[in-house]
Amino acid sequence: MKSIAVNGAEIHYADRGAGAPLLLVHGFPLDHSMWDAMNPGAAAVRAIAPDLPGFGLSPPRGETATMEQFADDLAGLLDSLEIDEPVVFCGLSMGGYIALQFERKYRRRLRGLVICDSRAAADSPEAAQTRGVLAERVLCEGVDPIIETMTPRLLAEKTKRENPQLIERLRRMMATSDRRGVAAALRGMAARPDMTAAIAEISCPTLLVVGDEDLLTPPAEMRTMAETIPGARFVEIPEAGHLAPLEAPAAVAAAIAEFLRDIV
Ligand code: MLT
Repeated sequence: MKSIAVNGAEIHYADRGAGAPLLLVHGFPLDHSMWDAMNPGAAAVRAIAPDLPGFGLSPPRGETATMEQFADDLAGLLDSLEIDEPVVFCGLSMGGYIALQFERKYRRRLRGLVICDSRAAADSPEAAQTRGVLAERVLCEGVDPIIETMTPRLLAEKTKRENPQLIERLRRMMATSDRRGVAAALRGMAARPDMTAAIAEISCPTLLVVGDEDLLTPPAEMRTMAETIPGARFVEIPEAGHLAPLEAPAAVAAAIAEFLRDIV
């Protein structure tokens, strides 16, 4: 892991391989290591996987972390690494919310988009309010409430039955998140804009990937997203839930590798 100062934050990141840049952006409340088992497109890409501020090794910054601010951090990271050529931006869930803000603001820096288990819609007022309450709770009690609330809903039945190591790994990954970073991201997700109409303007090649048992961002909703984004591809991963890249890394890596072969 390396680290670099960007926009007042200290961002730790993994930087592996050589070739066309692929930015791998983790979900909430995870870190860069969620992509470790996947190694998409192994040989042909330079895979850059940051810990967003407040997650993994990167310290938190501020009380609210908006999706736009995270997108600015990632643009700043690319600047610091002197990467001028367009990148493929691959984000899971919260990473997908950030991808849509990155696309809106830094379109010329994109070669392609991969959005895994995510959505374009904003939170409902009720969902936003629940996140606000959870943020306060996490600040008082630490990240345990998040781990207990989220873990059972993230995974497919097969994963829960057959992959206790992944559940353990996930719990450990979540436990390293800083409570202030988690609260800030909860507030930022609650405040994120509705992108359902805006995604019709996406002009770069786009791949949408979803686990067929994803309860949080269901396949039907992602299929509608794919129908709205011009020319988007849609891949449903069997026997995977909301964390398809962790639950079925080979299938997700194959889908991404095929996409990369066509666009890089
Ligand atoms: C994630 O996986 O990043 C979260 O489930 C996103 C969310 O809570 O909306």
